[in-house]
Amino acid sequence: MKKIKNIYVIGAGTMGSGIAQTAAVYGYQTTIMDIDPNALQKGQAAIARSAGKLLQKERISEEQYQAALKIKGSGSLQDSADADLVIEAATENPNLKEKIFAELGETATDKAILASNTSSISISRIAAVVKHPERVVGLHFFNPVPLMKLVEVIEGKQTEKETVEAAMEFARSLGKTPVLAKDSPGFIGNRILIPMINEAVYTLAEGVAPVESIDEVMKLGMGHPMGPLQLADLIGLDVVLDIMQVLHTEFASDKYRPAPLLEDMVADGNLGKKTGRGFYVYE
Ligand code: 3HC
Repeated sequence: MKKIKNIYVIGAGTMGSGIAQTAAVYGYQTTIMDIDPNALQKGQAAIARSAGKLLQKERISEEQYQAALKIKGSGSLQDSADADLVIEAATENPNLKEKIFAELGETATDKAILASNTSSISISRIAAVVKHPERVVGLHFFNPVPLMKLVEVIEGKQTEKETVEAAMEFARSLGKTPVLAKDSPGFIGNRILIPMINEAVYTLAEGVAPVESIDEVMKLGMGHPMGPLQLADLIGLDVVLDIMQVLHTEFASDKYRPAPLLEDMVADGNLGKKTGRGFYVYE
């Protein structure tokens, strides 16, 4: 298998920019792509801010910081032609992901590994639209990507062993620990985490306790670094709802019914930290 050198990340949102930053800091030639020039600019600014913080804390070197600033921007999938590894981190929408992968089947080389950072959508479904489904794999990072040590590696029905091994090795080369999971809705992490957050929203909506108390209980009582509502604000309420909907549809079980309050907040555009308002208000 060809050595991975060039990485092409699709989507300059929270996850895409975190993944691109981490890849660049660990020595990969990295390009970040977004069809929206504004989003691309925002993503690159977020990378500079985050890498700057890590430099200040001496968690990365000056050289690594400079590498993060040198990430190339792209506005078209055509630029994926020289990538050894493409990591798609676009919006969590199955039709959009299929469209991107169908196009990648044409623009990327036959040798490239095509990975999706999907948080719950089936890798086998995404792989079905490309010529080489054996080279499609899930690489699921956790937010904030530069700090979290885990990467779930998802093996689709047709993913070949070499692709899985290359994905595991890539995660290790970023200083992360890869954990292999089957292609099942929500994989491991989100199947457990997101219903817990959803339950916290029900607990709030039913008036059992206010936001701060719910978070305090999970932090002090269970040793979680953040409360579930604070974490929902960090992940983005739209992302939490998308994942809950995938679990609800795929498992066809009412135990995954999204909390109506979560649906209302998303409909109102209160998506958490990124919009300045969620369960908490951000300046
Ligand atoms: N880059 C650089 N620095 C960052 C950062 C980033 N992307 N994000 C946060 N930081 C900084 C903070 O700004 C803070 O800096 P400061 O001290 O200068 O203010 C510093 O990191 C540490 O913050 P804290 O003092 O709050 O330190 P913590 O020890 O609490 O660490 C944390 C922060 C690692 C985020 C910790 O709170 C944590 O582990 N939280 C849980 C996160 C989690 O569960 N993530 C998974 C979400 S699920 C997911 O991503 C899957 C998806 O599919 C939905």
